[in-house]
Amino acid sequence: MKKTMKGFLVATSLLMGLTLAGCGGSSSTSGSKTYFVGTDAAYAPFEAQNEQNTIYGFDIDVMNAIATKAGISVKFVNTPWEGIFKTLEQGDRDILISAITITDERKKSMDFSEPYFEAKQLIAVPKDSAVSKLDDLKGKKIGVQTGTTGDEVVSNKFGKDSPDIKRFESTPLALKELAAGGLSAVVADNGVVINYVTNNSDKGFKMVEDSSFEKEYYGIAVKKGNKELLDKVNTALKQIKDDGTYKKIYDKYFGAK
Ligand code: ARG
Repeated sequence: MKKTMKGFLVATSLLMGLTLAGCGGSSSTSGSKTYFVGTDAAYAPFEAQNEQNTIYGFDIDVMNAIATKAGISVKFVNTPWEGIFKTLEQGDRDILISAITITDERKKSMDFSEPYFEAKQLIAVPKDSAVSKLDDLKGKKIGVQTGTTGDEVVSNKFGKDSPDIKRFESTPLALKELAAGGLSAVVADNGVVINYVTNNSDKGFKMVEDSSFEKEYYGIAVKKGNKELLDKVNTALKQIKDDGTYKKIYDKYFGAK
């Protein structure tokens, strides 16, 4: 009994040591490096986390396929959207894949891979809503995830300091508030809105597009200047696009169209 306990303690502290070692960015054991990949895993179908704390989704499959081609090992770390970009600068994460739209502003502080996904903003509203375009949301409470491109489009439209813009730390929290009746609309990436509205038909939402919404492209981010890693990612990304791996993953999540 005592012996078992001791063994358990030793095992636990070994595990703790490993876990602690895992906190400070990339680790290197006997020459093989593990890259830490940050993702805000509350953005299905791109990234989500189940009860066993396993992170899964389209981005995870894409990143794993890239890692396999590049011959690198990766470890996904759930990382809140707020501050996610800082983790690159600080070296806590080596790579970010989180449905991140490539923007000129973000390019100033990090480097992006070639685009791997095309997206657009989309508005979710209750089924009986009269809203048919972004303009119609004037004076109505709009939920967005803080610091996303959804936040950007409504801020540009109604003013950054508009009291009608309600900012949430995650998109699911904004959608929850919409379902609770506290908001008139949520503006977020189309893939996420479509996923939510179709999987929550009981909540009675519909989707509204706006002609002003521009095409967005997701990129994989690395620390500014990390050309070595970026080259690896880009080369592997091209390979998975060329050999059909990317298409297989795409079809798994978004159908064959
Ligand atoms: N594409 C949007 C942006 O880059 C939203 C991304 C949010 N991603 C997430 N995993 N929460 O701003």
